[in-house]
Amino acid sequence: MTLRIGILGAARIAGSFMVGAKEVPSVEVVAVASRDRARGEAFARDHGIGRVCSYQELIDGSDVDAIYNPLPNALHAQWSIAAATAGKHVLCEKPLALSEPEAASMFAAAESRGVVLLEAFPYMFQPQTLEIERRVRNGEIGELRTMFATFGFTIADAGNIRLDPTLGGGALWDAGCYPVSFVRQIFGARPRRITAAAQWTAGTDRTLVATLEHENGAFAQISCSFGTAVHRRAIIAGSTGVIETDYHNHTDRESEPSYRIKRSVDWQAPYETVPVPRENGFRVQLAAFARILATGERAEVEARKRASLDNAWTLSTILQCA
Ligand SMILES: NC(=O)c1ccc[n+]([C@@H]2O[C@H](COP(=O)([O-])OP(=O)(O)OC[C@H]3O[C@@H](n4cnc5c(N)ncnc54)[C@H](OP(=O)(O)O)[C@@H]3O)[C@@H](O)[C@H]2O)c1
Repeated sequence: MTLRIGILGAARIAGSFMVGAKEVPSVEVVAVASRDRARGEAFARDHGIGRVCSYQELIDGSDVDAIYNPLPNALHAQWSIAAATAGKHVLCEKPLALSEPEAASMFAAAESRGVVLLEAFPYMFQPQTLEIERRVRNGEIGELRTMFATFGFTIADAGNIRLDPTLGGGALWDAGCYPVSFVRQIFGARPRRITAAAQWTAGTDRTLVATLEHENGAFAQISCSFGTAVHRRAIIAGSTGVIETDYHNHTDRESEPSYRIKRSVDWQAPYETVPVPRENGFRVQLAAFARILATGERAEVEARKRASLDNAWTLSTILQCA
């Protein structure tokens, strides 16, 4: 059966989402909602979408099974809760929520109507991420001791939602949610202690660093910035090995995507370069969302819910410390 999706807002990222959506045979994007009818119509025309409507009409529509929510961060909770309350499954952009209680209320709304709420993080659904998680869990680099993860780039456009504190802007919420969530994927739990520092401009953090200490005494450090050349990298160090990865959302944008692993404490030991499939992250993420809805499997939904709650708590706690 086809999963019929409606998009809430003609966001820039929704255009990229459409590229992946067109490659998932079990999915059809049937409607787009916009505050501005002309913008909605232009988006629908560009992407071959049949219906343009308001946000409320979209979530009330009987032609839609699930909503993709790419609104500014501060609107994720309000509209995801409205969509779930109307009985629609929700794929909501990262960061899911701006606090753990806000995230919890979103899951409560979804569960009360028996629908699925999933946070959209394309890199998490990439085969390379799943493989790295499995290798760490299987002890291929020994006991986890430290992890460093970063993501930074430059924002040139002063009107960008990422610079607006009232819309949930800031480097941590936008870029830092990647390293924080990747650390959570690898450690499998929220940290027990956090220290952080940030450089603030006009009410938002523009560059931020944090140290996350975990229950077993292992540490992670993250950094993020809106003021650097684009970079994205993680180093996961265990007692007997190391993994290095760019943990990209879309490995199909690279010519020969790979990650590196060393399984030895020997200083001379070489890294092995492991090739990974070239995949559009929106395609693999949407295929996973459609599979979860079709099979009704709860284990993955529950695991991803726990991760989203941990991430919302960790991100908001980092900001309080910074
Ligand atoms: N997973 C990823 O790879 C990825 C990448 C980039 C961004 N994102 C996430 O996607 C979301 C949107 O990012 P974006 O770069 O696509 O943003 P954007 O282009 O600014 O789009 C946001 C959309 O939200 C709607 N909107 C509703 N109220 C608004 C308000 N008060 N101010 C501005 N826009 C408002 C607008 O649509 P209408 O005017 O049509 O209603 C606007 O087009 C964010 O949560 C971001 O974190 C995810």
